[in-house]
Amino acid sequence: MAKGKVDALLGIVFGDEGKGKVVDVFTPKYDIVARFAGGPNAGHTIIFDGKKFVLRSIPSGIFDEGKLNIIGNGCVIAPDLFMAEAQELEAAGYDLHSRLHISRRAHLILPTHRVLDRAYEAAKGAARVGTTGKGIGPAYSEKASRTGLRVGDIENDFLPKYEALKARHLQILRDLSYTDFDITEDEKLWLQGVEYMRQFTLADTEIELNSALAQGKHILAEGAQGTLLDIDHGTYPFVSSSSTVCGGVCTGLGVPPTAIGEVFGIFKAYSTRVGSGPFPVELFDETGDRIRQIGHEYGAVTGRNRRCGWLDLVALRYAIAINGVTQLIMMKGDVLDDFPTVRVCVAYQKDGQVTTDMPYDTEGWAPVYRDFPGWQADLTRLSSEKDFPEAFNRYIAFIEQETHTPITIVSVGPDRAQTIQRTR
Ligand code: GDP
Ligand code: IMO
Ligand code: MG
Repeated sequence: MAKGKVDALLGIVFGDEGKGKVVDVFTPKYDIVARFAGGPNAGHTIIFDGKKFVLRSIPSGIFDEGKLNIIGNGCVIAPDLFMAEAQELEAAGYDLHSRLHISRRAHLILPTHRVLDRAYEAAKGAARVGTTGKGIGPAYSEKASRTGLRVGDIENDFLPKYEALKARHLQILRDLSYTDFDITEDEKLWLQGVEYMRQFTLADTEIELNSALAQGKHILAEGAQGTLLDIDHGTYPFVSSSSTVCGGVCTGLGVPPTAIGEVFGIFKAYSTRVGSGPFPVELFDETGDRIRQIGHEYGAVTGRNRRCGWLDLVALRYAIAINGVTQLIMMKGDVLDDFPTVRVCVAYQKDGQVTTDMPYDTEGWAPVYRDFPGWQADLTRLSSEKDFPEAFNRYIAFIEQETHTPITIVSVGPDRAQTIQRTR
């Protein structure tokens, strides 16, 4: 019986909720931080002491010198991008080699997976997903097809396997008549990345994690993307290709469900989405533009405009149920500081029908709003819940009441320090 626990920190909307910031804040309380899903499609921002980092494959616990960080088996990893990311951290003075382990079972993203990602998107035309172009879908498809290359493969005679898989991809691309690309430079860096990765501890991380649990250690599972981008529970087909929900923690790290402790569900005080797909609360007006500008809602990976809208309780309640969220963390309330009215979507309506449950097809539904007076105060300077404006407290209380889940942490700015613990 496991003595330690795995707490999960999960984005419960469309990603970019602020997971990186909170994992960084939480790390001192844990022994190990582990990523269980996704790859370089993620962009997790961490800001402290005037420094800013955007992590993609490396867990956000990496800035705490004494802690082990793990890239779990549920992740996909692009050696060239991993090398660039790791070297940037090394240049900033962080020694990764002693405290970053990579699962041998994680799958590799090949340069040709990225070309396939682009080719499949181009073939979809207007129905494209709007992927990050990092080869995520093709790499996970390869895994499901049982033809993938794994991190453990680079420890052995790797090149023939690589060449065979690449040849198959090139054939698919020819069949699709997608020929306008050149992977020469990418492949060179990718192979350098493979060499670089060999210098790290490539490990049976599921065994490491289970022995850590047996020793009573505490593990923080860092989510990537969000519940509505989950391959099963998201707005399919406009989703990513991995299990981003709490179940993904077990499969993506090899830890038992009985070891799961707290499930932190993280969301913003409003909603955003990058890429295509249904988004009932999307604002196409000046208000949406203002949220984007004030919240700096531009993709951390692709720089694309994030689509913005009001908070969506239909989505939140659904995600809380799917993940078994025990505590909510609300980010970026400060972005709404100047709004005289703040709206919350409490239901969806279509053709005279109203639902508070997430519909199978979220396309075509319009939000039903409840309005709240804005707090019109500068939250960024606050350091205690005692100083919260009454209107902000009412907003928080309404969300708690509607979700039956406590909001235990409120973030009021991007810096590590701008994080407020609430008493329950
Ligand atoms: P992640 O992918 O979930 O880690 O989130 P991202 O890093 O992609 O996006 C969150 C963005 O919001 C980053 O630019 C953070 O620096 C910023 N951020 C996080 N928390 C807050 C907050 O409470 N207020 C404000 N204004 N910005 C925040
Ligand atoms: P973090 O971890 C926001 C979106 C893409 C696209 C869809 C599929 O930073 O929250 P993919 O490249 O995964 O095949 O793209 O998912 N997407 C994200 N959106 N945050 C992310 O990660 C995302 N990762 C993927 O924009 O719509
Ligand atoms: Mg992000």
